[in-house]
Amino acid sequence: MRHLLLAGWMGAALLASAPCAAQNAKIDPPLMGWSSWNTYRVNINQQLIEKQADALVAQGLKEAGYLYINVDDGFFGHRDATGEMHAHPTRFPNGMKVVADYIHSLGLRAGIYSDAGGNTCGSIWDNDANGVGAGLYGHERQDIDLYLKRWGYDFIKIDYCGGQELGLDEERRYEAIHQAILATGRHDVSINICRWAFPGTWARRMARSWRVSSDINPSWKSVKYIIDKNLYLSAYAGGGHYNDMDMLEIGRGLAPNEEEVHFGMWCIMSSPLLIGCDLTTIPPSSLTLLKNEELIALNQDPLGLQAYVAARQGKGYALVKDIGSKRGLTRAVALYNPSDSACRFSVPLSQLELGGKVTARDLIHHQELGDLGHTITRMVPPRSVLIWKLTAEQRLEPTSYEAEWAYLPCYDDLGKNPKQIHYERSAGSSGGIKVANVGGKPENYVEWPEVYSQKGGRYTLTVSYGCDKPRRLEVTVNGERQAAVDNLDSKGSIDTVTVPINLRPGYNQVRLGNNYGWAPDIDRIRIAAPDSHNRKGEIRE
Ligand code: GLA
Repeated sequence: MRHLLLAGWMGAALLASAPCAAQNAKIDPPLMGWSSWNTYRVNINQQLIEKQADALVAQGLKEAGYLYINVDDGFFGHRDATGEMHAHPTRFPNGMKVVADYIHSLGLRAGIYSDAGGNTCGSIWDNDANGVGAGLYGHERQDIDLYLKRWGYDFIKIDYCGGQELGLDEERRYEAIHQAILATGRHDVSINICRWAFPGTWARRMARSWRVSSDINPSWKSVKYIIDKNLYLSAYAGGGHYNDMDMLEIGRGLAPNEEEVHFGMWCIMSSPLLIGCDLTTIPPSSLTLLKNEELIALNQDPLGLQAYVAARQGKGYALVKDIGSKRGLTRAVALYNPSDSACRFSVPLSQLELGGKVTARDLIHHQELGDLGHTITRMVPPRSVLIWKLTAEQRLEPTSYEAEWAYLPCYDDLGKNPKQIHYERSAGSSGGIKVANVGGKPENYVEWPEVYSQKGGRYTLTVSYGCDKPRRLEVTVNGERQAAVDNLDSKGSIDTVTVPINLRPGYNQVRLGNNYGWAPDIDRIRIAAPDSHNRKGEIRE
């Protein structure tokens, strides 16, 4: 343990006197609708799409908020001599505009599909010969104009099989397509990047949502894998941009508890909700779950935040997010048990920044659970989740921020750069995760954009770090370099270093990095305010 200040200060929570009002401008919530891929793959046609659109309305799903009908891969016909794309002659004999018009006539929005490269995924994986040369590559303006202006589609999913075949650079490629979309003048079009891994922070400049995993299938293994992929990506969602956990497999044979996990976690993690089953034969229990208005409200919450992992409990995770207003008195929590044995949760409410009397409501089962006391104590069965809305009397000032909640501007999950900054499992780290490969250049930092201080002033910042040779750590607060420490060396384990910093009242941006060499790996930071001094000047855990 290394202290740069003689005094260590305890991390006591300060009470926030009043919740902050939501000051966010209205943002687009995650997309809700239906997509053809999961059930039908490339075997789609006009009648089928129209029947599903009718069923969406008839089943009450439109009323519940599902507004998009997305035609996925499989509609491509051929390009004519001018390069213009035509719809598949037998699947869509009347073209694609009539399909969009029909969808619109029901008061719904229409979605379409393409690829960033030359060939579609269906041409590779589903032997759809018409998908060869059907991608946007070399036809950006022509195809985009056709799909969005002449045919009138409102959403476009842009896949990457063809892009990968051509070895294209993702950011440059999607930017070129984005420019073609902007050139149509249609600023209401929702863009989805389908690169099957978190593509990088640039995605937010151009897309409403981006996939973070390979394709979902109707199995528990797949649902669990995708949740796992998204657990530490909360920093990248927000402001109307979302991590896309892929289309829903509800109504396609998962067990009821698995469906609850699937839908509940997609909702609390603010993923788009695109139903993927046959809506004419959907089992009643699946339909009821998809229409659960309390879970839908959680997904469509005006703050548009993704829940983050606040605590690990054995093999389980407690995730939390603000709902309604930031730093207010209501939060949503998920107690998620992905394992095959029961998991005992015991989560102090102070760890969720909630104080005073705290009551809970079960959003899956629509039940009031009453006063929780000081700790959430529950057994959660295997492969299950509890999703609650918590209402507290007090909001506590946070004192600890995990690296797995942090924003890493240079992070992507494309696997191209061996020196990539990334979140890494680490047994010795709090929460079991640290961030590795920090520094080396000014822009490769770890950032907490909203370190909250009610009163502002002089604080201590304690950084938990790891490295096995001497490294330098630079601390920047609100754009100002406030500390730099050389020769940190934790000899491979996790150690701490404490420096003084100044915070202003409200939110502060705290960055850790090293402009020219590697910084240590980062586990978490803790902040302590002057009035949390105890008499002996020790840090109290
Ligand atoms: C990829 C995508 C899927 C689907 C298919 C279509 O696999 O990830 O969601 O769109 O292509 O071929």
